[in-house]
Amino acid sequence: MKIDELAALVRTIPDFPKPGIQFRDVTTLLADPHGFADLVGRMAQLAQPLDPQFIVGIEARGFILGAALAHAMGAGFVPVRKAGKLPGRTVGIDYVLEYGTDRLELHEGQIPAGARVVLVDDLIATGGTALAAAQLLREQGAIVLMALFAVDLPDLGGMAALEADGVAASAIIA
Ligand code: PRP
Ligand code: ADE
Repeated sequence: MKIDELAALVRTIPDFPKPGIQFRDVTTLLADPHGFADLVGRMAQLAQPLDPQFIVGIEARGFILGAALAHAMGAGFVPVRKAGKLPGRTVGIDYVLEYGTDRLELHEGQIPAGARVVLVDDLIATGGTALAAAQLLREQGAIVLMALFAVDLPDLGGMAALEADGVAASAIIA
């Protein structure tokens, strides 16, 4: 599939979840079997040479792509969740949002020190979520090989923020 055909499968919903936000909805791409396979194949091509042990997916849509990618690559899948969702003992990180703060958590001990990980989410906007997840992983001693996204919103500067923090980042659709 050509990249512009793949990009066209992501629909834009105006004013969701609040006025002025152009929400980039990947469910339309996921519902297309060729599009879903093409996207995961492109992500696997970028991640495979890095030989990750774990794909870490960020709640919620990062679970869908991260799990598919982990399965395709023969890597383990580990979720990073919003606060209070994981049943076992957790380690976490608070991060600042446009309004207020939020918290991401990871099961304690699930990522061993020195583990080679690729971080996955559906979309990067400001990069705040991915930066927090990368920092949490580093605090566990993980090596964050790359942060990988289906969609980048380049005007919001998230990829540049990740690179400035020393996290290599790639997106399939910009
Ligand atoms: C979206 C998206 C990323 C994050 C990107 O998640 O899936 O996780 O926003 O934004 P940022 O780069 O500015 O941090 P959302 O907050 O909609 O949460 P959800 O996936 O749980 O619905
Ligand atoms: N997360 C932050 N901004 C977003 C957008 N415009 N579309 C989808 N998810 C987002």
